[in-house]
Amino acid sequence: MSTPYDDATLAAALHDHSRPSFLAIRTASRIQRPVVLVIALLASALTVPFGFAQKVELSVDTSRTGAKIDRNIFGQFAEHLGHGIYDGIWVGPDSKISNTRGIRNDVVAALKAIKVPNVRWPGGCFADEYHWRNGIGPADKRAVTLNPNWGGVTESNNFGTHEFMDFLDQIGADAYVSVNVGSGTPREASEWLEYLTTAQPTTLAKERAANGHLAPYKVAMLGLGNESWDCGGNMTPDYYLSQMKIYSRFVRNFHPAQQDKQQMLKIAVGPGGAEPRWTDWTEAIMKAYQQHTWSWDIQGLSLHSYTVGHGWPPSYASVGFGETEYAQILKSTLDMDALIAKHSAIMDKYDPDKKVALFVDEWGGWYAPLPGSNPGFLVQQNSLRDAILAALNLNIFARHGDRVRGANIAQMINVLQALILTDKEKMVLTPTYYVYKMYLPFHDATLIPVTFNAGWYTHGDVALPRVDAIAAKDADGKFWLEITNLDPNEPVEIEAKFTGITAKAASGTTLTAARVDSVNTFDTPNTLLPKPIAAQVQSGKLTLKLEPKSVTVVSLE
Ligand code: AHR
Repeated sequence: MSTPYDDATLAAALHDHSRPSFLAIRTASRIQRPVVLVIALLASALTVPFGFAQKVELSVDTSRTGAKIDRNIFGQFAEHLGHGIYDGIWVGPDSKISNTRGIRNDVVAALKAIKVPNVRWPGGCFADEYHWRNGIGPADKRAVTLNPNWGGVTESNNFGTHEFMDFLDQIGADAYVSVNVGSGTPREASEWLEYLTTAQPTTLAKERAANGHLAPYKVAMLGLGNESWDCGGNMTPDYYLSQMKIYSRFVRNFHPAQQDKQQMLKIAVGPGGAEPRWTDWTEAIMKAYQQHTWSWDIQGLSLHSYTVGHGWPPSYASVGFGETEYAQILKSTLDMDALIAKHSAIMDKYDPDKKVALFVDEWGGWYAPLPGSNPGFLVQQNSLRDAILAALNLNIFARHGDRVRGANIAQMINVLQALILTDKEKMVLTPTYYVYKMYLPFHDATLIPVTFNAGWYTHGDVALPRVDAIAAKDADGKFWLEITNLDPNEPVEIEAKFTGITAKAASGTTLTAARVDSVNTFDTPNTLLPKPIAAQVQSGKLTLKLEPKSVTVVSLE
């Protein structure tokens, strides 16, 4: 098979952290885009006999292992925004919608099925205007406040600390709590953590017990502000640092079982892009971290990056689009790899032992609001394009697993790239939800480097790797392969050689649909569902045919 790039490029790519070759193509495509595009077009013309599937050979050396794929990269984000919390999670105990203590049973069952590792809450921009005391105590006594960030609507505060913790308990996830650095005080945040976590009979612990929870709660992750360079207070790096150190010092977790600092990761606000403004921010935080003392510390740095396409404000439609918008959005989302590499390199300078994790705690496709919806509610549909976008990003996070140990898709329900959509009593699972379900075997699995010539898919002036793939070994020693076919028109024949094991059989599932903008709706919820895919193993080689525009996960027996 001819390939659109030379062996030296491939060798360099393989040498470079054993990343798949498409990453080298992407780097090249950013540097010499027109040249690469011409080569890619020629290569496609030469290598795609009409009506025949492309063939892509993958090689997986099972004796080589990469970093752990931290289950926290499958984290979720739920902000008080539009119908993300109210209607999406919380319907109240008196609702006709089936619920447990006010929390929707259908949503809980769906989230349990994908083993959500953690949920980041209460924001987002909302977090820096949230005052936790408004959200505790009898519901009818809670202050009604405003949500100026998101539509200017009233906030009932019916979903507060206890409801969030109950929700997490019901779905089996850890708490990632973002404290208010922008308009709160260190005292307010430290009292919230004492209220949540102390087992000692303090006044705050007694108040927690009086509000229904005698035992202390656990908090696994603590966000020290949100986007403090923008909606979180428009701070300079130096100003944020001085605030962050104070919060890091005084906002303590008192839970007896969480006294090791690794048991509650403090996550500082990190960058929101690739430009010098953002690299300066990472430099400032990490330089300070290098000189941190016993009295303050961080274990994580956040990174926010949305796939918007042509810049701000988001203008791409989330449904009713064609191949051009499909190709452009996927090209744009692949920038996540270079973005992580850029900030990781800065972090490596100051933290070569990689003690500080990078948490991509807001990411996903952000499109134009659905016509007729409240623009402040960030309502959009979720298509096959989003499923592919999710798979590509999860693979990028997995390949950067030595540094990226957490990620939270924005957002879990009814907002932006949601996994679940609800409308009163109705609920529908989106294509993105099914990707998370298919990726369950990758939770805490060990990455195994995969090498392959991705080939090209081209459309207009966009050239994309035809396929992407990751492999991993789970805790039971079973091997898993994920392969995404980005090409919306051509199937791909996969031939995967696994050295070091003698596989006898393989089975798997695939997710695809008729069109790049196919969606699940309340009336047609099963348009996109993972279905079994035929895979053969002969002489240790796995072969399978990927449908165009598909996400596939296969296990080897
Ligand atoms: O997810 C929506 C918003 O995007 C969040 O509130 C904010 O942190 C980001 O700008």
